[in-house]
Amino acid sequence: MGPWPNDPLGPQARASADIYWIMFVAAVIVLVIVDGGLIFAGFKFRARPGHSAQQFHGHNFLELVWTVVPTLMVISFSVLSFEKLNVMNDNHTGVDMTVQVQGQQWSWLFSYPKEDRFKLIDGSYLSVGEELHIPVDTKVLLQLSSKDVIHSFWVPNIGGKKDAVPGRPTELWIQADKPGTYKGQCYEFCGTGHADMLVTLVVHPKAEYDAWAKTALAEANRLIDPATKTGRETFLSLACVGCHTVKGTTAAGKVGPELTYVASKKSIAGGVLSPVDEANLTKWIKNPPAVKPSTAMPNLNLSDTQIHDIVQWLLTLKCAPNQANCP
Ligand code: CUA
Repeated sequence: MGPWPNDPLGPQARASADIYWIMFVAAVIVLVIVDGGLIFAGFKFRARPGHSAQQFHGHNFLELVWTVVPTLMVISFSVLSFEKLNVMNDNHTGVDMTVQVQGQQWSWLFSYPKEDRFKLIDGSYLSVGEELHIPVDTKVLLQLSSKDVIHSFWVPNIGGKKDAVPGRPTELWIQADKPGTYKGQCYEFCGTGHADMLVTLVVHPKAEYDAWAKTALAEANRLIDPATKTGRETFLSLACVGCHTVKGTTAAGKVGPELTYVASKKSIAGGVLSPVDEANLTKWIKNPPAVKPSTAMPNLNLSDTQIHDIVQWLLTLKCAPNQANCP
């Protein structure tokens, strides 16, 4: 971000920034000429001792100038706007990838194309919330929908802004000039969680995109692995989800610690139990207050089978090798 109020990092954003600057500069020139003329005339022709204020009527040349010039300006702005709008609304020329974007109170869900590189072990395709990953210099079409109320997808540096409207599909294309992480924000007030409805756009170098897809797929596959299916379903059907978040699942509680990578942590129960292994997880879930009397986690009186299944699943919640944001 430079000293300017915008910093376009993609063709979509550049189209609107270009027109912004052209109109801004034109407006400043008009301001200087009109206000300059006004001030000049006010001084030069004002009433003062020995002179009465001068009046002008029917100056054909001047009237012609201030009619024709603004008309030409408005016409040029219209033509220019249509030209830029054509670029910004051109959702179908040269699209390399299409992602379904669903807004709901209060997060975004991104469903990747039905291609082999996004195919999961259960035959479905990669669908991940909050973060959208795309390759650099690639025109990506977003097909927007909403599950509940109107939301609006917007990543300022990349540009383009489009409402996600229930029952009415909308489209927006995006493209980024360089790899990096870009922040976006839902731009339509959609309820109490609106301010938290963020989006993170991660742009990868083209050569690294498939590697990212592999990691994301491995992570998603881990969550639907049939070997730990029972444990996962047990966990998601119990009160656990009210307090804990496991990214990629419906568990989104914020009261207790996030468990997305619990098996990669050094300890659980606020440091009381270490390492994070089958024995400690079992001990903890069986009766949390017995391990740590001050804990907010209640004894859910689960059966040994339920605990066993849940622990088997929790043990798979690990970071990928060399994962950067591993807790
Ligand atoms: Cu969704 Cu504001």
